[in-house]
Amino acid sequence: MVSRHQTVLVVDFGGQYTQLIVRRVRELNVYSEMVPWMSAEARIREGPPDAAILSGGPKSVLEPCAPSLDLSLLEGIPTLGICYGHQWIAHALGGKVAAGDGREYGFRELGGVLRGSLVDGLSSSQVWMSHGDQVLEPPPGFQAIASTDTCPVAAFENVATRTFGIQFHAEVSHTPGGMEILRRFLFDRAGLKGDWTSESFVEETVSRVRDEVGPEGKVLCAVSGGVDSSVMAALLTEAIGERAVCVFVDHGLLRKGEAEQVVDTFTRHFHPNLKAFDEKERFFTALAGVTDPEQKRKIIGEQFVRVFEDHASELAGCDFLAQGTLYPDVIESGSPTAAKIKTHHNVGGLPDWMRLKLIEPLKWLFKDEVRAVGRQIGLPADIVDREPFPGPGLAVRILGEVTPERVRIVQDADWIFRSELREADLHLEVWQSYAALLDVKSVGVMGDERTYEHPIVLRAVQSEDAMTARAVNIPFEVLERIANRIVNEVSGVNRVLYDLTSKPPATIEWE
Ligand code: XMP
Repeated sequence: MVSRHQTVLVVDFGGQYTQLIVRRVRELNVYSEMVPWMSAEARIREGPPDAAILSGGPKSVLEPCAPSLDLSLLEGIPTLGICYGHQWIAHALGGKVAAGDGREYGFRELGGVLRGSLVDGLSSSQVWMSHGDQVLEPPPGFQAIASTDTCPVAAFENVATRTFGIQFHAEVSHTPGGMEILRRFLFDRAGLKGDWTSESFVEETVSRVRDEVGPEGKVLCAVSGGVDSSVMAALLTEAIGERAVCVFVDHGLLRKGEAEQVVDTFTRHFHPNLKAFDEKERFFTALAGVTDPEQKRKIIGEQFVRVFEDHASELAGCDFLAQGTLYPDVIESGSPTAAKIKTHHNVGGLPDWMRLKLIEPLKWLFKDEVRAVGRQIGLPADIVDREPFPGPGLAVRILGEVTPERVRIVQDADWIFRSELREADLHLEVWQSYAALLDVKSVGVMGDERTYEHPIVLRAVQSEDAMTARAVNIPFEVLERIANRIVNEVSGVNRVLYDLTSKPPATIEWE
């Protein structure tokens, strides 16, 4: 946890927009972190935040086991409730909440706005609603400050205790005045400073790492050449110089030519003492016959650590392992309120016997924030702007068994796909793009011969932070050209498909 900044604690009642609240607050230069409601009381006791935001959620405060929070813990702390959070404040402090007739979902016009209140100036503005229950009366000491034609208390406030509630979602872009409400809450009402910037993050992380590692400690920085681990390694190098021992493990599962490029960029621009280990054989042997995605991740995570152990003499004295884990990795690897979707190997897959202590300086950041930090510390654009790439590499883009031959197929198809995207000037719209190899076969015909080979799936998505994504609109002619080139130039492939699915319901990677 980053503790020297002012902190806004976002209590997650299971709402679909909770992360968005965290992001919006950070966009306003205030550090914010999310805590599931069941851990929130302990977290507040540990260290009271400078302000709190209570999120929306799918439950009703009127249910017997409704998600709850002891609001006495937030006494003296400016608090904003949104949707369920708004209803919880009303319910817990003696207001009246009633079950609505069905769910109200969509735009509503705000009326009855009280002058000088948190929502002043938003009369006749559209706000985004998504709720079942509603507040009929605010709690004693509170004043209703806005309504809609279907919602009598769409917002309330208690200026004295600096407690506010809004039924609508200020955090979504469909509520045009939403950012202004958050800004007013954070700065005008809660009196926060806005002290969260890339610069302050770098300063603080560098000094925290120095404290954590001590004057003698050495840290093994596992770099993959991707943005996250490069930024992590740069921060560590800034903090402890050569005691940050940067190691690049070539697991044979990178894109075509990328291993060489990583070593080149890294040593030329940034870290001359990079140690590069060629461990392709080891990974292919460990993955032989394995088809289950989660097992692949676990094996790869474990082999990384074994590599480090086997090179123990070169890495002598390292007692820490630094990884570029990000906030979405932490969330998606399973928190009490988020379903476990995938074990991102750098979080869940490390074996129990690992003896190195973990350092994860980026684990509270979203991807775009990591890029901003990378620019701040002067990393070259070809690292900072690189597409996100999963730690287990092409293994999660090869459905079924991972073999050197199947890696060759994916690498060649991927190379063609991405060169054509660049050629068509589409790469700037792309968050991630890649080719995946499926483990089914289909019949084709080539040069009068029957073929029976595997299909390649192309995936190109736009995204803000990998939590949601949608397919890039690639013109048909470009897709057709790519498909033709792949079946003609990559042996072993006789069909090419383009994946149109958004996330959710799909994920970005195929495994
Ligand atoms: P999904 O597939 O879950 O991916 O939509 C979200 C983002 O995470 C990356 N990803 C991973 N990164 N280890 C990683 O370091 C992993 O096991 C892993 N799986 C997915 C993915 O590329 C995307 O950017």
